[in-house]
Amino acid sequence: MLSGRTVAVGVSGGIAAYKACELVRWLKARGSAVIVVMTRGAAEFVTPLTFQTLSGNPVVHDLWGDQSPGFDLPQGAARKVGGKVGHVDVAEAADVLVIAPATANLIARLVHGEAPDALTSVALASRSPLIVCPAMDVEMWRNPVTQANVRTLRARGAIVVGPESGPLASGLEGPGRLADIETIGQAVEEALVRRASLEGVRVLVGAGRTEEPIDPVRVLTNRSSGKMGFALAEGARDRGAEVTLVAGPASIDPPERVKRVGVATAAEMEKAMVEASRSAEVVLMAAAVADFRPRRVSTRKVKRDGSLELELEPNPDILARLASMRRKGQVLIGFALETEQGLRRARAKLQEKGVDLIVLNAPGEAIGSDTNRVTLVEARTARRLPVLSKREVAEEILDRALELRAARGGAGRAGRARQVAARTVPTPRARPAAPRRVAARREAR
Ligand SMILES: Cc1cc2nc3c(=O)[nH]c(=O)nc-3n(C[C@H](O)[C@H](O)[C@H](O)COP(=O)(O)O)c2cc1C
Repeated sequence: MLSGRTVAVGVSGGIAAYKACELVRWLKARGSAVIVVMTRGAAEFVTPLTFQTLSGNPVVHDLWGDQSPGFDLPQGAARKVGGKVGHVDVAEAADVLVIAPATANLIARLVHGEAPDALTSVALASRSPLIVCPAMDVEMWRNPVTQANVRTLRARGAIVVGPESGPLASGLEGPGRLADIETIGQAVEEALVRRASLEGVRVLVGAGRTEEPIDPVRVLTNRSSGKMGFALAEGARDRGAEVTLVAGPASIDPPERVKRVGVATAAEMEKAMVEASRSAEVVLMAAAVADFRPRRVSTRKVKRDGSLELELEPNPDILARLASMRRKGQVLIGFALETEQGLRRARAKLQEKGVDLIVLNAPGEAIGSDTNRVTLVEARTARRLPVLSKREVAEEILDRALELRAARGGAGRAGRARQVAARTVPTPRARPAAPRRVAARREAR
């Protein structure tokens, strides 16, 4: 997985900076080109010369220094290096950016988009997967500010690995140790596998809520924020998919670099989804569609004269329609939100509509929030995930969509590469390190 790839290793000024030397060696031993980017603080702990010697490349530690230091890179990466602006070159050349150790200070800068140094400038200019490996003293880690910052990074799609618990350099004990190098290295490999896993695959996402007009100014709607669907669209886009996002009104801005089709009513959403699904290979229907709409829409604003009775008629069942017109090999995933008998109803929905998987949400946990706790319901299995950011939930759903696609022979080149890689890089579910990561996630909350 790492051979022929370029990994940017960011090192910030924590006591664990010396462990980054081992990470560089680990990556180099597996055939990766490595560019080390250091903060000024990091250079207080380990000299750039050490990293230069280990990586075989010039170390970027001065934003204002040499802008084209001449990296030794694989062909693909070398082509991307324009040789004009150092931090942009590194961002372009790197297939993944892993920051280990990430200090509390650096994490805060990442969250706020500050870029006063080479490392944060690379991070801001990069579109590659970002892996952040926090390491700090126990109270710095537990501080609500750090916790909120880490949550924000996760919600934006960063992969946070560690920290682990144990004795710390300060003499205290608790969470704050840098994750072990093997775990970080595996996260790098996994990010690379994911990154190309939907290369060229056409993915359709339905997101947001619908609005059914009552009169020219009033609508019937629901509280869906659109965050889950947008996270799916972002995740698929970052894996190389051609994403079409059919979105109703939402509380946040839609992701960049996807084809967006804006709709308002369920009827409009149905039309757009049906149209786009004809060419889609993966369809993810996360939109909260109103079940009913007013039978008649008043052309004038309804006045408050006595009571008002609205007659409602059912909206089209978009998921069922999509299932009825499924292309061969197409993966179709729907969502359900139930207030009672969730699992039983999700299973019934799965069978009635003929979809591959139902993502079962619980009310309260799903709507409007940045995190979610879902169960992935299939014909024979129901896998309950821990509380995760919506982006992390999206990654789990996309991983499963890929497996379903591969199972019916629609994997294509990228999917097969993923299958091969999956044999050598266990998925988060199968890997022994997974419980540690989940535990660390829980700790973060
Ligand atoms: C001896 C020493 C050890 C430190 N270890 C850590 C650490 O492990 N984690 C951390 O977040 N900050 C640590 N700090 C504090 C950071 O160095 C400080 O916040 C610095 O501003 C980080 O800058 P940087 O993020 O640009 O590298 C340490 C400071 C000293 C003096």
